Amino acid sequence: MRLTDRYGRLIKDLRISVTPRCNYHCTYCHPLGMEMADPPGTVSVEDVKNFIQAGVLLGAESIRFTGGEPLVRKELPQMVAVARELGIDDVAVTTNATALRKRLPELMEAGLRRVNISLDARDPEVFRQITRGGRIEEVWDGIEAVLEAGLHPVKLNAVVIRGMNDGEVVPLAELTLERPLHMRFIEYMHLNNAPFEEYKRQFIPGREIRAMIEARFGALEAVPTDPTSPARVFRIPGAEGTVGFINPVSEPFCANCSRLRLTSDKKIRPCLLTELELDIAWAFSADNPVEALVDAILMATDRKPAFGNTLPTRRERVMLGIGG
Ligand code: 5AD
Repeated sequence: MRLTDRYGRLIKDLRISVTPRCNYHCTYCHPLGMEMADPPGTVSVEDVKNFIQAGVLLGAESIRFTGGEPLVRKELPQMVAVARELGIDDVAVTTNATALRKRLPELMEAGLRRVNISLDARDPEVFRQITRGGRIEEVWDGIEAVLEAGLHPVKLNAVVIRGMNDGEVVPLAELTLERPLHMRFIEYMHLNNAPFEEYKRQFIPGREIRAMIEARFGALEAVPTDPTSPARVFRIPGAEGTVGFINPVSEPFCANCSRLRLTSDKKIRPCLLTELELDIAWAFSADNPVEALVDAILMATDRKPAFGNTLPTRRERVMLGIGG
């Protein structure tokens, strides 16, 4: 079965936020003071299983676990295993990597295929500021663990914010020269309820980020990629890894969007950049949850907007609760 929405977009990638908790407090992700425990009603392993099973019936090809920080959820390996058992090969996690060294063995045993790691700076002090207290050594330890384990490709995400980590763009790109790391520079989206004027000052378009890299390393070489992937990927001539640009604000990729998101409080968010959410708690507690979830996913697909809103606006739910 192939699931397409009203605009003919193939929906094949499901993102599941497994917790609203995170041990980091990155400035671009949420204001301070978020909850410290999983509230009642947070998705269980059984819920995740039912949701993925419904997704598989509708042709889902990939599952990405997000948060909050998905590794703070004890049952994450069980969730990964469930996805693999249900026939999904492409099972990935987006993480801040702080607990990765410790938890990678059980995650790999469960069948994890890929990780995306947030790394917004190379300078420890800049990293600490942007993450509000994060220790970069822990993240490096996690990255090393993934490289040692041979999980490929290792993608690193940096959200670039003017006046905060724009000086880190060149050092981050440099990481790809000698190691098979795939650096992704992401345009800062207004998903954290930052003051509008501050956001406008801090936003940097992807073409400017690219120009910083080309000024230092010369013209980038294009690397062909999956057209449904939001990243435009390039290589610094001779480099081991790649640099990519994800430009949701200056070059929206809505026409190729293949995603639906499930939040940890059981709502489907058809579009990252649109406030619309469908509460589907009813489906998880139905007599036959898989059948009900098939219906719920179809309803959400039908309501997937053509375009997201990238303008600064007051958001009910910040990025922390959506998961990227
Ligand atoms: N703008 C752009 N990207 C963001 N992310 C989180 N918040 C934002 C934002 N406001 C990305 C980070 C993280 C992933 C989960 O989502 O790169 O790695």
